[in-house]
Amino acid sequence: MASEVLSGSLVEVLRTPAPEVIVLPTTKEVDIQAFKILAQTVIDKPRAVLTLATGGTPLGLYALMAEAHKSHVLDFSGVTTKNLDEYWPLPKDHPQSYSRFMKDNLFNKINIPACQRHIPDSSAEDPLKETARYQSTLQSIGSSDLTILGIGPEMTCHIAFNERGSSLGSRVRLVDVSEETIKANARFFGGDQTEVPRRAITQGVADILESKRIILLAKGKSKALGIKRTLEGEISEDAPASFLRLHPKVTFILDEEAGSLLTRD
Ligand code: PGA
Repeated sequence: MASEVLSGSLVEVLRTPAPEVIVLPTTKEVDIQAFKILAQTVIDKPRAVLTLATGGTPLGLYALMAEAHKSHVLDFSGVTTKNLDEYWPLPKDHPQSYSRFMKDNLFNKINIPACQRHIPDSSAEDPLKETARYQSTLQSIGSSDLTILGIGPEMTCHIAFNERGSSLGSRVRLVDVSEETIKANARFFGGDQTEVPRRAITQGVADILESKRIILLAKGKSKALGIKRTLEGEISEDAPASFLRLHPKVTFILDEEAGSLLTRD
């Protein structure tokens, strides 16, 4: 199965342009570059559909979006958003739920109506029903105009909660959070790994690849090995982010540290 996926992928690689890779000197410039792409998307299409990420990486971008709204530079009232993932189970208003994260860091600071914001329900009683509901929500909204991604630390190479072993065809599902991710995310739970939920609902790799355009942001040394593996290693389930190389319009925006191990021409 893996080799079938791989040989299928190789055919696609031959047809797909190499991903655009932009390495910038500072994290601030990464945020600005990402903001320019996002702003242009919303200016070109006021009813744009955006897929959004959580985590530390997009915070600078979200701050710029909030600033743009405050200074009346951008209007987000027509925008629809679909979040990549959410822990399960966790009360919706838990300080570390992604629903709360999005409100605190973005939604309470810009003007996207609540009915146009979509995220899996961390408090759903039946997670399987919730994954089915979220998949059908994604389908009824249609493909995103722009997806913002981060990447997991070190060699996890995860995108959303698609951990190592996630297939190219994977869809919205309930997954186990890997031990490495639990360790990395414990910093948000007062450093206590036992507080990190063991499961999550995530968009699959196939859902992510349906976006018309994707930007992956990576900052800092802890991302350097994973970025090298993603861009220069084989395209495989061993590094879910490597599947992005099959997408015709993907841009990796890296700071100097995250891009430091890439082979330069
Ligand atoms: P980070 O997380 O932005 O906090 O580094 C990214 C991820 O785990 O996907």
